[in-house]
Amino acid sequence: MATLVATPAKPTDYSYLRKLVFNLSQNVLDPSRDYLFETRLARLLRNQGLTHVEELVQLLQLRKDPRLEKAVAEAMTINETSFFRDGRPFEVLRTELLPRMIDARKHQRSLRLWSAASSSGQEAYSIAMLLREHFPQLLGWKIRIEGTDLCTEVVHKAQSATYHRIEMNRGLPARHIVRYFDHLGEDWVVKKEIRDLCNFRAANLCAPPLPFTEPFDVIFLRNVMIYFSMDTRKTLLQGIHKLLAPDGVLFLGASEQPVDPALWKAVITGGTCHFLPK
Ligand SMILES: C[S@@+](CC[C@H](N)C(=O)[O-])C[C@H]1O[C@@H](n2cnc3c(N)ncnc32)[C@H](O)[C@@H]1O
Repeated sequence: MATLVATPAKPTDYSYLRKLVFNLSQNVLDPSRDYLFETRLARLLRNQGLTHVEELVQLLQLRKDPRLEKAVAEAMTINETSFFRDGRPFEVLRTELLPRMIDARKHQRSLRLWSAASSSGQEAYSIAMLLREHFPQLLGWKIRIEGTDLCTEVVHKAQSATYHRIEMNRGLPARHIVRYFDHLGEDWVVKKEIRDLCNFRAANLCAPPLPFTEPFDVIFLRNVMIYFSMDTRKTLLQGIHKLLAPDGVLFLGASEQPVDPALWKAVITGGTCHFLPK
C-alpha cells in the first residue's frame, strides 16, 4: 500500500474536493469557504485513520472508491432543519390550500405530499402532525408523505423518528409534543400514528430521473436549491413541475425562486409565497 504523507491541504486539494462534491451532489461550494472541509470532514478522516484533508485527497485519487467519494459529498451537505420551519407555509397549507384540495379529492380519498431534501425528517413529520391535528376527516384516506434526501445519515435519523430535547425545543408546540411523541430518556420518538404516514429514503434530486413517477399534491422543496447552480435549479424545477398534480402546490425556501417564471404562478398569501404549476 502507498505511504501517505500528512501535510496541510493545498489549494489543488480543495479544488479536487469541490469538483468531487459537485459531481456527486451538484452542490456548489464557494472557494472562500474551503476551511469548512477541515471541520466537516473531521469525522470521516478519523474513521479512515487519517489526520489531514490532504491524506484523504491522496486516498481518493488512489482508490477511486465510490463509497468514500459519496461519504465526502454527504459530509459536505448542510442538514439544518427544524419542526414547522418558517411557520407560515404550514399555516397557509392548513388554512387555505388543504381545505380546497381535500374537497377536490373527496371521492378519490388520497393525498400525496413530498418533502424533497427532507434532511432528518422534521419537515415531513410536521406535515403529518398538521394533517392529524387539523383534518380529522382524513382518517381512512390514503395519505403518503414521502421524504427524500441525498445524505443517508439524515435519512436514517428520519427513519428512526428520534429527536433530542434541543431539536424538540425548536418550533414544536407543547401540545404536539404531548400528543405525537413518546419520551425516551433524553430523546423523544414520533408516535406510530404519525410515523405511519411518512416514508423516507435516500435520493439525489440532481441525478435524473427524479425518484417518483406518480404525481404529488404538495411538494416542499425548501432550502436546498440555494446550494445548486442555475442550470441545476432549472432542470430540477422542470422535473418537479411534471410531478405536480395540475392543482398541486410547490413550496420553496424563503430565499428561493423558480428559475423559469413561465412554468409557475407565484401566489403571495399569509405572509409567504407558494407556487402553482402553469
Ligand atoms: C438545509 S437542509 C433543508 C431541509 C428542509 N428541507 C428544510 O427546509 O428544513 C438541505 C438538505 O438538502 C440535502 N441535499 C443537498 N443536495 C441534495 C441533492 N442533490 N439531492 C437531495 N438532497 C440534497 C442535504 O443533504 C440537506 O439535508
